[in-house]
Amino acid sequence: MLAEIIARLDHIARPFAVHLPPALATQLYSSGRNVFLSALMAERPRLTTIAEQHTRTLWGLTFQHGLLNAAGMFKHGEGYETVWRQGAGGYLSGTTTAHQRTGNIKNGIAKPFAPYPRSRAASNWLGLPNDGHEAVAKRIAAFERHEGFPIGASLMTAPESSGKEALEELVVGMRLYEQAGVDFLEINESCPNVAHGASTLEAIAERLEYTSRHFLVQRSRRLPVVVKFSTDTALSDVEALLDILCSFGYDGVNFGNTSTNYAHHRTMLHASDTALFDYFTQTFGGGVSGKPLDTLSLNLVRRASEVLRAKAPKQEFHIIRTGGIATKADVEESFAAGASLCQWYTGYFERFAEDGHSLYAKIFGV
Ligand SMILES: Cc1cc2nc3c(=O)[nH]c(=O)nc-3n(C[C@H](O)[C@H](O)[C@H](O)COP(=O)(O)O)c2cc1C
Repeated sequence: MLAEIIARLDHIARPFAVHLPPALATQLYSSGRNVFLSALMAERPRLTTIAEQHTRTLWGLTFQHGLLNAAGMFKHGEGYETVWRQGAGGYLSGTTTAHQRTGNIKNGIAKPFAPYPRSRAASNWLGLPNDGHEAVAKRIAAFERHEGFPIGASLMTAPESSGKEALEELVVGMRLYEQAGVDFLEINESCPNVAHGASTLEAIAERLEYTSRHFLVQRSRRLPVVVKFSTDTALSDVEALLDILCSFGYDGVNFGNTSTNYAHHRTMLHASDTALFDYFTQTFGGGVSGKPLDTLSLNLVRRASEVLRAKAPKQEFHIIRTGGIATKADVEESFAAGASLCQWYTGYFERFAEDGHSLYAKIFGV
């Protein structure tokens, strides 16, 4: 299939492409990425069915297994049928915001993205391009649903709004997704590529208290809401964050989003990727994803699991691991550490280049 061919050719070319002048390599990958994604989403591979032994039940929802795409892969609510056919554990749309966004542009490069192939990592400074809560909720409402394949929607406050207005808009978005029939919601509290509310524990608690009061306690059906934080979250803050989530009635936590700890990740990169990394992080900043995050996300999940065991919240509360997952061993390690679900982004594309549409079958067997 076309997307598989593009991904394989790109896999071979990438280690050489990163030696192009960095601005050119970034331009190439930022625009090439969109072409590839369109090809991928248009494909209807043969249906992969995963063995029942991998089924996971969370919040009364049955996932055919515990690995699904991370937010940001299907920002416009596309790709549902493709990943269902690939045998994904579930589907997550977004992140959407109240208003449509076209994404960041700088130095003539729109939605900047760069891969670091030998380091199994990437950077992006997309800036949350999306069609808005309303359009994506409408698209999801029209999906031809598949059993054992829950749909989640990721959303966040609009960067161009602030204070109470931003929170009111977020709640409107949550209601739209509730009406659209999604199975769970993920609030993105951690996008490094747009202006955000303050990230102190007090500010986070204030925002989450608002959405709890105006949405969680008023839900018209069981609709789990999880909150996604950065993989840069300090281990010492995990207990306080879980206190906030559990006391306000949230249903889970996701660790986590991309990292901006460039100095640390630079030391872990393959030497051939550092020129592009330096150009990208100095020009755009952005979030680092992939392999460099694996220890961070795993340690956060372990800490969260420890805290939860001691806390024993009254609601059914789950931990999701995102960051650096690319193999069967990564998934197994996540579950052993206390995660109930895993999400992948950079690793998904790495595996797709190798295994094509069989990527979930390779991990879970069929
Ligand atoms: C190109 C790109 C776009 C992303 N967009 C979003 C987004 O819209 N919302 C979000 O919560 N995370 C977004 N992320 C972060 C991923 O969901 C994930 O948390 C992060 O990449 C770490 O996982 P990974 O190591 O498997 O890539 C994005 C990541 C990438 C690489």
